[in-house]
Amino acid sequence: MVNMRAVDIKDGKGPATSLFINEIERPKPTAAQALIRVKAFGLNRMDLLQREGNYPVPPQAPKTLGVEFSGIIEELASESESGFKKGDAVFGLAYGGAYAEYIVVSTHMLVHKPDELSFEECAGIPETWITALQAMYMVADYKPNQSILWHAGASNVSIAGIQLSKADSASKIFATTRSDEKNKFVVEKLGATAAFNSETQDWAEELLKATDGKGVDVIVDFMGAGFFASNLKAAARDAHIVTLAALTGMKLPAETDMGAFLFKRVRLEGSTLRARDEKYQGKLRDQLVEHALPKFKDGTFKAYVEKVMDWEKIVEAHQLMESNKTKGKIIMTINCMEALKPTPEETTKPTLDPNPDPAPKSISEEAKEANDQFDRSIKELGEKTSDVLSVLLSQSKKQIKEVGLKDIVTRSSEADSSRQWEIQIKHREQDIQCTIETFLRLHEDIARWNSEKMQALASIKELEPLVETLAKSVSKMEEAGLRPRSGRMVSCNSHMGLEFETL
Ligand SMILES: NC(=O)c1ccc[n+]([C@@H]2O[C@H](COP(=O)([O-])OP(=O)(O)OC[C@H]3O[C@@H](n4cnc5c(N)ncnc54)[C@H](OP(=O)(O)O)[C@@H]3O)[C@@H](O)[C@H]2O)c1
Repeated sequence: MVNMRAVDIKDGKGPATSLFINEIERPKPTAAQALIRVKAFGLNRMDLLQREGNYPVPPQAPKTLGVEFSGIIEELASESESGFKKGDAVFGLAYGGAYAEYIVVSTHMLVHKPDELSFEECAGIPETWITALQAMYMVADYKPNQSILWHAGASNVSIAGIQLSKADSASKIFATTRSDEKNKFVVEKLGATAAFNSETQDWAEELLKATDGKGVDVIVDFMGAGFFASNLKAAARDAHIVTLAALTGMKLPAETDMGAFLFKRVRLEGSTLRARDEKYQGKLRDQLVEHALPKFKDGTFKAYVEKVMDWEKIVEAHQLMESNKTKGKIIMTINCMEALKPTPEETTKPTLDPNPDPAPKSISEEAKEANDQFDRSIKELGEKTSDVLSVLLSQSKKQIKEVGLKDIVTRSSEADSSRQWEIQIKHREQDIQCTIETFLRLHEDIARWNSEKMQALASIKELEPLVETLAKSVSKMEEAGLRPRSGRMVSCNSHMGLEFETL
C-alpha cells in the first residue's frame, strides 16, 4: 500500500482548528482517470460547509476536501482521454480529494496548464469560473447586451462572472457587497458599472434608479432568503434569477410577495455544480477551455489570488475565508515530498547510507572549495533575490530536513521559455525531482509582488551565471567522490548549503 498525506478533519467534522494533515492511502486511477501529483489547490466556500458536516457531498466524492487543483500527471488509466500524457502540467475540477498530495480525477475534467499562468493561478480557476460560466450561459441563458447583477461582487464566482460579463458585452454590470472597499475593487478593478453596499444602501432601489426603472435582466444570487424580495424588485421584465447559494438563509418570511413572478414573468432557477454528472461537468470544462482560457492567455481575464499559503497552514486559510475579507482565491501549495520520507525500516537506522564506509575519507582541498563555493553561491542567490528566494529555500530546506538527505544536485535548465533551477534529491534507488521549480516560481512570485515586472525578470536573468556556478560546484564535489553520508542541509540566515560530516 502506498500512502500519501492529505488534510483530514478530527472527529469527521468541526471548526477550522479540527483540520490536520494525516496519512492516508494513495488512490489509484481506473477507467478514464489520471493520478495527479498536486502542486496547488484552491479553497472554496463549500469546503467550509463540508468541514462542518453541512454539505451534501456527492456519493462519488472521496472523504478528503477540495474540488480544484493543479499539478502534474503521474499516471494514466487505460481509458483516459487522448491528449494527456505522464508529466503534463494540468489543472482541473474534482468531486473531492484535492487537499492531498495526490488526487485521482477523470481526464474529462482536466485542462492543460497554459504557460502564461502559474500553478497557483490555475488551481483557483476551475470551481468558480466554471460556476460563473454555468450560471450565465447554461442556466440564465445570458445574451450579449443584457444587463446583469452579481451579488457578493468580490466573491470568487462573481470576480469571474463580472469579467465574463464584461468580455461578453453586458450592457450594464451591477454588483452588491457589504463593504465600500470591495465595491471600489469591483468597479475599478473588475470594471462593473456600479456596485451597491447591501448593508448601508437600499441596493434594489439604487439599481432601479441606475436602469431608469427597468431593472436588471440577469441576477446571479448567493444570498437566498434575505435578498429574495429585493431580487424580485430589481428584476426586469423576463428576468432570469439564478440561485447558487443561500448565505442569508433558506426560509422565506410568510409575507413574501411573489407577484413579480407573474407580472414581470420572472424565471428563477437554482443550480449546483458539484452534484452534476461527469458528462455535464465535462461540457463545462470544454466551455472553460474554449471560452475563457484564450482570454486568460491574452491577459483579458485575470485569476485574482488573495493569498498563497503552504498547505500546512490550512487552519489559518479556512479562518481567512471565514473572515469574509478576501477579494480573490486562497491557494494552498504542496511540496510533495512524501515519496522521500524514510520507510519505518530506515528510520531505525542511524544513517541514510545503507553501506557506510568503515573509515572516514579525507576531504580534498578542491572538493572543500567546491562545497564552500556552493555555500557562497546559494548565499548570494538568496541575497540577490531577497525575501522571495529565502522563503522558497527555507520551505525546501525544511522538507529536505524532514525526509533526510542522501545526495543533492542542483542544476539549471531551460524549461519552456523560462529558466528553471531545480534541486534534485537522490534517496535510495529513487531519483525524485524536488518540487522546487524555483525559477518558474520566482518569475511568478516576483512579478506578483513587484510592480516593476520587467525589472524583476531582468534581475532573474542576472542570476543565471550564479546558478551555473552552483551546478559546477556540485559536479566538482561529485567528481571528487564527495557524497554526504549523513549529509544534511544547513542554513544560516538566508542561505543554505551542504554540510559534510564524515568525509
Ligand atoms: N451552486 C453552485 O454550483 C456553487 C458553486 C460555487 C460556489 N457557490 C457558492 O457561491 C458563493 C460564492 O462562492 P465563492 O467561492 O466565490 O465565495 P468567496 O470568494 O468566499 O466569497 C463569498 C463572499 O460572500 C459574502 N458573504 C458571506 N456571507 C454572507 C452573508 N451572510 N451575507 C451576505 N454576504 C455574505 C462575503 O462578501 P461580502 O463582504 O461582499 O458580503 C464573502 O466574501 C458561496 O456561497 C458558494 O458556496 C455555489
